[in-house]
Amino acid sequence: MDKDCQPRQESSVPTASIGWFEAARFGLFVHFGLYSLAARHEWVRSREAMSQEDYDRYLERFDPDLFDARKLARAAREAGMRYAVLTAKHHDGFCLFDSSLTDYTSMRATGRDLVAEFAEAMRAEGLHVGLYYSLLDWHHPDFTVDRYHPLRGTQAEQEPRDMERYRAYLRGQVRELLTGYGPIDLLFFDFTYPDKGPAEWGAQELMATVRELQPDILVNDRLGIPGDYVTPEQYQPDRPLERDGAPVMWEACHTLNGSWGYDRDNHEYKDPAMLVRMLVQSVACGGNMLLNVGPTGRGALDPRARDTLAAIADWTALHERAVRDAGPSTFEAPANALYTQAGRRLYLHLLAWPLKQIHLPGLAGRVRYAQLLHDGSEIRFQQLDGTQHEHNNLAPPSQAAGTLTLTLPIARPDVLLPVVELELLGDE
Ligand code: GLC
Repeated sequence: MDKDCQPRQESSVPTASIGWFEAARFGLFVHFGLYSLAARHEWVRSREAMSQEDYDRYLERFDPDLFDARKLARAAREAGMRYAVLTAKHHDGFCLFDSSLTDYTSMRATGRDLVAEFAEAMRAEGLHVGLYYSLLDWHHPDFTVDRYHPLRGTQAEQEPRDMERYRAYLRGQVRELLTGYGPIDLLFFDFTYPDKGPAEWGAQELMATVRELQPDILVNDRLGIPGDYVTPEQYQPDRPLERDGAPVMWEACHTLNGSWGYDRDNHEYKDPAMLVRMLVQSVACGGNMLLNVGPTGRGALDPRARDTLAAIADWTALHERAVRDAGPSTFEAPANALYTQAGRRLYLHLLAWPLKQIHLPGLAGRVRYAQLLHDGSEIRFQQLDGTQHEHNNLAPPSQAAGTLTLTLPIARPDVLLPVVELELLGDE
């Protein structure tokens, strides 16, 4: 993971004018629904080409007795997240809110409006509220049967289906979500694909409705028309993202184990240290990270998800300011390291622990003070000219003039990702 983020050419030190989204940097994604009971991926109905009747076995047993939005909100805040996004409706069409347009809701099934519980709990913890809304809907009778539809290859392909009616349903539900739950900070539509796109969604009109109902909301770009931010999924951009040469806000969304919905037998978990590196890599490249949990069929976080969030929380407790309100740096980080920057504070994230010294090009004469962030212990530094080294008459490039050399302890600090905080001189 060396040279993970190319610095931006122009000055990109974050200023006070950045909005809540970029300041937050880290959010929680929550995928919960009927598929959580199947416990084998949120696409289970499509993957197994299940009929509605078959899939109804989950509806009949849906009982989120352990879904506790307040617990989720606390875990998210402690992990350092400042917003959260819940699947109000996923591709299976099941709604976690009280909709007057369908009976296929958590309200009808259990008397609970989980979107309401979620919004209230997140706000109480000071988190911004986001909703995910699937543009696909495998339950709606007017949603035409396409390549992903569970009924592909069946009689249903010949049924008359009217996307105009589906569009009206879509608009109506989005209106319900944006009028019934107070201020919604973010809307994550999902998604456009070769069979269906802006025309099928009525994207322009839908976007206009969203903006009219909630002028301050941020909307992603998966309606197939430009939105406020872009959403790289399950990969890490290695540089700030641009549209037509201008920087765009972005958010990488990631799973814990490759599945968004609870997937009991999938053990391909990313370890917490990797997730922290991914978060820092996002910030270093000017983006956010939205990390997903898929609560179990009963609505609780499984131990693995809980432990992962707790491990990230331990790191955040000591390193928060290297991420929160921080962004990319104009300095180029040395190999195996990443920089984030917030005003005059430059954060050096050490992806690999070097032997005693690390050389920072371009920083000689620019640093007032340096410390390890986790324990506030001073790190001494000097401007070294390679030719002055004992036993060495050559000046390797890393020790060129202009390079600042930090002296680190031999033992790597016992944190998921060690960070040195550099206080810059002047008005960087
Ligand atoms: C994809 C998947 C979906 C998931 C989403 C998260 O679009 O279809 O299941 O919810 O990514 O970004």
